[in-house]
Amino acid sequence: MGHPHQRILKPTRMKKSTETPKRTRRDFLETSVKVAGTGALLSALPISMSAYAGAAGEIKVAVVGCGGRGTGAAMQAIEADPDVRLVAMAEVFGDRLEQSYKNLMERYQGKNKVLVTNATKFVGFDAYKKAIDMADVVILTTPPGFRPLHFEYAVQQGKHVFMEKPVATDVVGIKRVLEAGKMARQKKLNVVVGLQRHYQKNYRKVEQLIKEGKVGDLVSGQVYWNSAGVWVRPRKEAQTELEYQMLNWYYFTWICGDHILEQHIHNIDVANWFLGANPVSAQGMGGRETRKGKDHGHIFDHHFVEFVYPQGQVISSQCRHQRGCMNRVEEVFQGTKGNILVNSGNRALVKGYGGSDILDYKGENDINPYQQEHNELFAAIKAGEHRLDNTEYGANSTMTAILGRMATYSGQQITWDEAMATNLKLVPDDLSSFNSKAPIQPDANGNYPVAIPGKTRFS
Ligand SMILES: NC(=O)c1ccc[n+]([C@@H]2O[C@H](COP(=O)([O-])OP(=O)(O)OC[C@H]3O[C@@H](n4cnc5c(N)ncnc54)[C@H](O)[C@@H]3O)[C@@H](O)[C@H]2O)c1
Repeated sequence: MGHPHQRILKPTRMKKSTETPKRTRRDFLETSVKVAGTGALLSALPISMSAYAGAAGEIKVAVVGCGGRGTGAAMQAIEADPDVRLVAMAEVFGDRLEQSYKNLMERYQGKNKVLVTNATKFVGFDAYKKAIDMADVVILTTPPGFRPLHFEYAVQQGKHVFMEKPVATDVVGIKRVLEAGKMARQKKLNVVVGLQRHYQKNYRKVEQLIKEGKVGDLVSGQVYWNSAGVWVRPRKEAQTELEYQMLNWYYFTWICGDHILEQHIHNIDVANWFLGANPVSAQGMGGRETRKGKDHGHIFDHHFVEFVYPQGQVISSQCRHQRGCMNRVEEVFQGTKGNILVNSGNRALVKGYGGSDILDYKGENDINPYQQEHNELFAAIKAGEHRLDNTEYGANSTMTAILGRMATYSGQQITWDEAMATNLKLVPDDLSSFNSKAPIQPDANGNYPVAIPGKTRFS
């Protein structure tokens, strides 16, 4: 095997989650037709499910979690099919719901797309049930700690689902999602998980080359999400502890999962996808060096993990939230015949070891994968077909990131089976109002307990 080369591309600027491409109705129709032709048909829906639509052929959509991504995904659902109507919204913070509603109305005023009224704006911890009950398709875009609860309920109610990644923050949540996924399969409900690289053309091209054996067997890889970090929502006066944690959710592991889960899952997921397996074990290191202080909760600001896969392949995974450092968000793999570089900026570079370009793809006009997810989802629903079943890989990629976090928090080597056997549970069952007890409490100085490798147990 020749010496694997890695060409370093400029750091990727991540698209904002609310970014929706400007597309005409004609673009939409063309894309839908193409998508309908390429989607893998799992099976036709039974008659009862193919009657997806409400009155007058409308496809009713509800959004649960009306922040940046929920608002963006609602727009993408609307853009995906002319019959989509947003009928209900659910939130725990009324002002966030109103802001999202305002953004949607600014875009769709007078277009008969957003049919949400005061009576179908639901606020509170059980708001999700009321919104889900009204819809044919639900968009689940709260922070990930609540995803298992919401997904389970949506499937029980027989709804098609778009849910954001990660799909849980703990092992108990993963098991719940996998079980609900089985039920969704039996009910032939389409489920899309927001790991949008699976819907991005350059990634699909690379997947095809791997399947065709053009790069041989993948033996190693490096996956990166090194960036400056994200927003902080400082504590406000008169907030309860739970209210504070749910607003500033990024910094609390029970609701966010830590950034190895919340962002780096995208890159870890590509490793699982391209290697066609989940890792058998992980070991790594991490901590918080630059991002400290009360408003940064207790998550780490860097993790480095080695994931070992079933054939002995090793994937090195890095994620960092530190300002002023080199940023890099992409995935690199070495195969026995060539190597791969791919990133969310539509880039794919695949080189044979003889120096030849197997693929040099820039995808300048490619459709936004956030839109593509919804185009494929609504095309499947409209066709009355069960084509999309992303739950298992969504859960496995989430679990892979949880395994990595367990390794960095504890400083131990952990196998997949050991991690699954822990039944780690971080999200309490009894959260019913902002007066419920938050699962983690600050000390007298307002600081939260941070994991200490070598001392913190992974279970
Ligand atoms: N695929 C992607 O590239 C991508 C991009 C951005 C965000 N996301 C994912 O989307 C999810 C949301 O992220 P965001 O950036 O929109 O965050 P956000 O904070 O802007 O929005 C989340 C909203 O959910 C609400 N919420 C919290 N708990 C709730 C509950 N129990 N019931 C109802 N509403 C609840 C919050 O109040 C908040 O308004 C996360 O899982 C994130 O990882 C994915």
